Amino acid sequence: MQSTPTPLYQSLADELRSAMNDGRLPPGSRLPSVRETARSRGLSINTVIAAYRQLEARGLLEARPQSGHFVRSRLPSPPQRMPGRSAHAAPAETAVLDRITTVIAAQADPETIDLSLACPRDSDAYPGRALARLIADCVRRRPALLTDYSLPPGPLRLRREICRHARDLGMDLVPEDVILTNGCMEALQLALRGVTRPGDTIALESPTYFNLIPLANQLGLKTIELPTHPGRGLSLDALELLMSEQRVQAVIAMPNVHNPLGTSMPVAAKERLAALVNEYRVPLIEDALYAELQYATPLQPAVKAFDRDGWVIACASYTKTLAPGFRLGWIEAGRFQQRIAELKFCSSVAQPALLGEALGAFLESGGYAQHLRRLRRSNAADVDRLRGLVDQAFPAGTLATEPTGGFLVWVELPEGCDTNRLFDAALRRGISITPGSLFAPSGRHTRHLRLSACHAFSERHLHALFTLGELARQQLGG
Ligand SMILES: Cc1ncc(COP(=O)(O)O)c(C=O)c1O
Repeated sequence: MQSTPTPLYQSLADELRSAMNDGRLPPGSRLPSVRETARSRGLSINTVIAAYRQLEARGLLEARPQSGHFVRSRLPSPPQRMPGRSAHAAPAETAVLDRITTVIAAQADPETIDLSLACPRDSDAYPGRALARLIADCVRRRPALLTDYSLPPGPLRLRREICRHARDLGMDLVPEDVILTNGCMEALQLALRGVTRPGDTIALESPTYFNLIPLANQLGLKTIELPTHPGRGLSLDALELLMSEQRVQAVIAMPNVHNPLGTSMPVAAKERLAALVNEYRVPLIEDALYAELQYATPLQPAVKAFDRDGWVIACASYTKTLAPGFRLGWIEAGRFQQRIAELKFCSSVAQPALLGEALGAFLESGGYAQHLRRLRRSNAADVDRLRGLVDQAFPAGTLATEPTGGFLVWVELPEGCDTNRLFDAALRRGISITPGSLFAPSGRHTRHLRLSACHAFSERHLHALFTLGELARQQLGG
């Protein structure tokens, strides 16, 4: 196999790190600005940003607003890794984390043409004005929402509405059991912390949502990848075999509108999944973030709908459906409710009451159902259009999933392509994609990439897609 050249950002980061190690860049010294470094070394701004971000993520560099980047003072070495980790897991996870850092840096750079961020940047996608009016209205009526200390469990109105809408996914919840969280990410983190201890093993879908990989790593968990098919979802045979052979402390899955696949498990498979985790008494953490974005209504149920004894923990948020900036999510933890409530209190006490009230008011108003109908229609049309463009732009033999909801498409390139290299080449041209290797602890899926259809199809975006296709063709020697 051809060896992959070190990406430019990595060479720069390595060089700076060795300068820090041998004292040429002592703690407290200021690095040249991104622009200066790019100019003096003949690199692109994106490359320098990615290198600086990686050093920041590793705690070696500190970005001070308006002042620049400074070398951090040295902290003691991190403790030894948890015993029992498989020998190859750590480097692979570190590599995934490095790539995530680079992808996020590219997404945050306004100069980059973004084909990867899983959230519309187009403010028309969400009812911002209506939400702003509701916030103003809530403050006028109850100024104390700004000055009172927010305590759990948070606005009853919001928790009631969460339960009402969860019924559309077949979930029978009560407001007392709904814990509000800072986005779905906090819900997932609380769920994992609630049911595992460092050194435990959890099962993840492969591909999976990439942020779960560093999360598991930070919690000292070992991960096992379960093959996950675009049509059938996670392999239940593999899961059953695994659970029958060894203790798995939790399973995390996205049975409805999977990220990155964009597809959902058939209902019968969800029923079997619920039965399996109940039988083996293994908590299933169900990430239902995109579940309401299914194109077809009535919505297909969540696995939680079939939970018998409280082994399914449902996590979701309004980040993709309504208000990304609110950071409002929730968790219903079944038999682990008490433990999760305690963890939440220590984690972040509660959510901002004002945003919770405003969101509750919007959900009550009926405006949500109307908004979702519009969003589903536009997502479905955008995904269709993106798939058509991928067909035109990419080499023959390229495959793409047929999403049943949301705005993400998982693309498989022909044998001979490598999306890690494609990512680097695209970034040099100012285009950001999400390489498939991010979506698995092992770093596999190196012929895949995730594209997001929720960005405006401007001339720049179209040009970027065709450039990507051309780069892929070049990898095939064409
Ligand atoms: C599948 C999945 N789960 C969880 C999250 C985190 O959601 P939030 O931004 O609400 O914390 C994301 C964000 O992209 C996601 O795609």
